[in-house]
Amino acid sequence: MSPLSTSAPGVRQAAFRFRCIACGTLNDSASQDFRCAHCGDLLEITYPRWKEASPDAAKLKSTWRNRRLSSEPIDQSGVWRFRDLLPALESGQQAITLGEGNTPLYELPQCARITGVPRLFAKHQGLNPTGSFKDAGMTVAATFARLAGFRWVACASTGNTSASMAAYAARGGLRSLVLVPDGKISWSKLSQALDYGAVTCQLRTDFDGCLRLLQQLVLRAPVYQLNSINPFRLEGQKTLALELLEQLDWQPPDHIIVPGGNLGNSSAIGKALGEMHGLGLISRLPKLSVIQAEGANALVRTLREAGGKRLISVQAETRATAVRIGNPASWKKAVNVLEATSGACEQVTEIEIAQAKAEIGAEGIGCEPASAVTLAGLKKLLKQGFVKPEESVILVLTGNLLKDPDFTLGFHRGDLFRGTPDESASARLDPWRRPPIVLDATLDAVIRTLEQAEKS
Ligand code: F0G
Repeated sequence: MSPLSTSAPGVRQAAFRFRCIACGTLNDSASQDFRCAHCGDLLEITYPRWKEASPDAAKLKSTWRNRRLSSEPIDQSGVWRFRDLLPALESGQQAITLGEGNTPLYELPQCARITGVPRLFAKHQGLNPTGSFKDAGMTVAATFARLAGFRWVACASTGNTSASMAAYAARGGLRSLVLVPDGKISWSKLSQALDYGAVTCQLRTDFDGCLRLLQQLVLRAPVYQLNSINPFRLEGQKTLALELLEQLDWQPPDHIIVPGGNLGNSSAIGKALGEMHGLGLISRLPKLSVIQAEGANALVRTLREAGGKRLISVQAETRATAVRIGNPASWKKAVNVLEATSGACEQVTEIEIAQAKAEIGAEGIGCEPASAVTLAGLKKLLKQGFVKPEESVILVLTGNLLKDPDFTLGFHRGDLFRGTPDESASARLDPWRRPPIVLDATLDAVIRTLEQAEKS
């Protein structure tokens, strides 16, 4: 089968180009594996026109504000509202949108007290249509897949990408193929892909094995890959940062902290920050820091042991299954972003993740374990003096609490760490546990429980 072009008629070509992040080669189209034809490295999207006539920052801000008042689906999307900084469409009708983005920025008063950082906020991407930040990237990438004439889209996933891809494919009249590691993703995420009609393959391997296979598949079959190697995904995910800065009235925070798995999201946020700074939308760059689970710490090791020059892959193991990734595709982009924004990279333990997740949950917000690495990481960065208590900090919560109910139930029942090396250390989590209480159905029993709870 001959590969289709990933660019399409109907797309205003000159408005954006693909650039190799390593050798800088520019191109108007990309091959299906989204790798540079010269050196094989990853591609990013650039906008040559910005050099000739830089968009006016004040005008952009007011355009984006005004679009909030429009009832057009493309304007109601918290992603396409920022389309001036995205690959252009001929018409708004071309976009496959579920009204993604528009996610809240919450204050975290209790976590602020716990950490001693009064200006602590969470940008909750788990409140996207399919419950994770992936939707912001998927609306853009699925749209361009359809414009390029593909019938099939595909991804390897730890669960959220597949849920999101399946939903956007369904909305856009595309077929979708999901490759997930058998038994290693949460049932909630798997059930989303099934309900949205994806052909779902549970492969007897890990995420990295699924991604390897997908990379081979796209060179053999006319399927369009929607992993974050696809640079259109990262363009959509950039809007997280645009929306965040708009919510902050364009006053940059001191720190943005994000979980790191395959490292697409940190790369996208970093790209957005660089572009906003370059276009004069913000006056200085926040520091963007990436936090990984200790058992899936490829970027941490790559920086510490190889100075960020070559990837050190790991055999990933963590209960935060969303980031159970040992061979992150976008590691080089993430290294560049950390350098450009002077951010840090840290790792946190399973116990620290579980505690942080419960602390966020106790704010009435809730997130999935992979998102909670941000709060756990903040505590470390504070201890190291990298974050100062008087600075402002944004935690990017990437997924919804309901994405992984098994983790939350295990935590509160007290069996999350049973039979693991962390079992005895997990006793320190007891103060956060709220196990369900089974009672006889009598008024007395409930009142006694209420009185006991009042005392504790
Ligand atoms: N948080 C959540 C909830 C995720 O689902 C992921 C990645 C990450 C953080 C890490 O983001 O990969 O851009 O560094 N999930 C992918 C998936 C890999 O297949 O759903 P990243």
